[in-house]
Amino acid sequence: MKTKSGKLTVRPIQPVLDIKHLVAIDASCYKAPWTAADFSAFLDQHTCNGYVVEKGNKVLGYLLYEAAKHSVYLHSMSVFPAARRQGAGRSLINCAVENLLKKARKVLHTDVRETNLSCQLFMRAMKFRAVSVIPEYYEDTHEDSFRMEFRLDTK
Ligand SMILES: CC(C)(COP(=O)(O)OP(=O)(O)OC[C@H]1O[C@@H](n2cnc3c(N)ncnc32)[C@H](O)[C@@H]1OP(=O)(O)O)[C@@H](O)C(=O)NCCC(=O)NCCS
Repeated sequence: MKTKSGKLTVRPIQPVLDIKHLVAIDASCYKAPWTAADFSAFLDQHTCNGYVVEKGNKVLGYLLYEAAKHSVYLHSMSVFPAARRQGAGRSLINCAVENLLKKARKVLHTDVRETNLSCQLFMRAMKFRAVSVIPEYYEDTHEDSFRMEFRLDTK
């Protein structure tokens, strides 16, 4: 499966080839980035997978998800800072919506840190809506989570 949007291509993660890219993206985005072992452990779970977005041969960002019977949990997504606001995040979400949601599985949901305004605004632009606040959801900072969801039937 490959989805093209302009010069961007989205494809499923190939763990052996892609983990080094995921590690590099995380290192550029977070104070406590995931290691290669963290990504491997996540992707080894049979319900978990993800996509990368590329421009030419350069991987710009990734999205990780966990699929359940009636919903998909968007575990995380990140785009290199220098590649933001050029449609990479939108391409990843569009790909997830098109390929993972269907009749029996209508909901894509995620948690966003209360301080992560840029991600909240991104999710809102992707037609996600905040549905609840979960106090102290994040163990590292004790921040609340804004739970946000996209529903296929209210697209
Ligand atoms: C959230 C993130 C993945 C968005 O990726 P992106 O490639 O920059 O997103 P896009 O370019 O596809 O943005 C699509 C739309 O979302 C909205 N948007 C995205 N970033 C925004 C921001 N910082 N402020 C306001 N709106 C924003 C805009 O409407 C944008 O369209 P526009 O650029 O035409 O105005 C990226 O900012 C990121 O990696 N952030 C750091 C990691 C993170 O917080 N991840 C999410 C938590 S798991």
